[in-house]
Amino acid sequence: MSETKTDTKKLYIKTYGCQMNVYDSERMAEALGGSGYTEVSSPEEADMILLNTCHIREKAAEKVYSELGRYKDLKDAKPGLKIGVAGCVAQAEGEEIMRRQPMVDLVVGPQSYHKLPQLEAKAGLGVKALDTDFPEEDKFEHLKSRPKARRAPAAFLTVQEGCDKFCAFCVVPYTRGAEVSRPVTRVLSEARDLVERGVREITLLGQNVNAYHGAAEGGTWGLARLIRALAEVEGLERIRFTTSHPNDMEDDLIAAHGDCGKLMPYLHLPVQSGSDRILKAMNRKHRAEDYLRLIGRIRAARPDIALSGDFIVGFPGESDQDFEDTMALVREVGYASAFSFKYSPRPGTPAAEKGDRMVDPEVASERLHRLQALITEQQRAFQDAMVGREVSVLFEKPGRMPGQMVGKSDYLHAVHVTGAEVAVGDIRRVRIIGSGPNSLGGEIVG
Ligand code: 5AD
Ligand code: SF4
Repeated sequence: MSETKTDTKKLYIKTYGCQMNVYDSERMAEALGGSGYTEVSSPEEADMILLNTCHIREKAAEKVYSELGRYKDLKDAKPGLKIGVAGCVAQAEGEEIMRRQPMVDLVVGPQSYHKLPQLEAKAGLGVKALDTDFPEEDKFEHLKSRPKARRAPAAFLTVQEGCDKFCAFCVVPYTRGAEVSRPVTRVLSEARDLVERGVREITLLGQNVNAYHGAAEGGTWGLARLIRALAEVEGLERIRFTTSHPNDMEDDLIAAHGDCGKLMPYLHLPVQSGSDRILKAMNRKHRAEDYLRLIGRIRAARPDIALSGDFIVGFPGESDQDFEDTMALVREVGYASAFSFKYSPRPGTPAAEKGDRMVDPEVASERLHRLQALITEQQRAFQDAMVGREVSVLFEKPGRMPGQMVGKSDYLHAVHVTGAEVAVGDIRRVRIIGSGPNSLGGEIVG
């Protein structure tokens, strides 16, 4: 592929859903850079619009169709405009998208991004292009390597994709396929490359990232071993990972939270429900008590760890008591942050196919409201308790006020300081002096 940019075409990417899509969008933009595209921030300017979609809940999928509807006028005004759909909706409903929205030129599933330049060229010839295969190869290997320009100090790095857990509500095993881990050497070289470009914090991503088992010389490595190797990379100061399943929290990973200083004290560990009956129906393969015991072990290794989670309310058959069990679990754990969702039946998943009695939508809404109120209260308490404490902050960008800089604490709080000599990429000790609606204020102490 030629590196010379004969013409500059403009690419607009809109990303929905999880951090893995954010990472994929970056890599797709880099891949299309080789075909002469540079990124722009509005669809009106674009020669190509790419929607990187999410299929996890019905609302997320429907957004794609309404967004596409909005592009009709743009396409009429500029017939050469290419419109592509990538991501999990593309994977699940590729042909349906082409049928429902004939203006879509190309559809590409999450495992075929390395073929984007070819698909784009095909679309340029007026041929509709669809690729939703699950090839054996590592798509990231075939993507153009990351250009050497400096970049923001915190980056994502996908190390694992897909999932073999088959939770009864979840489309991921169908849209992203079986669990696949990238080999250790590739992850390490991508990390070194990021660090050379100014990155100081890496969040390792995977749908089930703690099931990571990457090929290495002499066998496979689990996530803890990968983290320990990354901790040896000079210049890389902070490591995080998300998202994890409780059953894959192995002993060495728990231990790493205690003895690996670069592994940040923040863990996203979804449990989904506090009711054993519902956990069983969800096929989570553990009880509430197992989760609580696990949290106890993680806290023993790293007492100041901040926890976050995901919850689903209104799963089919969820009784008032089941929901109260979830509330009790949340009270017992005490979360720094958590996401909660109303159950959304997804076509093809066991829970949707079984057709069990749905919880009355009003009851589900009321439960969601109560759970979110409890989580917000915990989040608030956790944030407010930071006042007076010292944290380390990685500064990421200037703030909105003159002389202000904003960064992230080790516990993922946004922290701003004003009037201090700090640069993007600096990691400094900060004493927290105030707690606002969405961020903390602090002063540099070291
Ligand atoms: N309905 C509601 N929430 C869901 N999630 C996954 N599938 C569904 C669904 N069908 C939530 C889970 C998961 C998070 C990423 O999205 O809580 O952890
Ligand atoms: Fe979906 Fe996560 Fe369950 Fe895998 S572990 S099926 S990604 S909810």
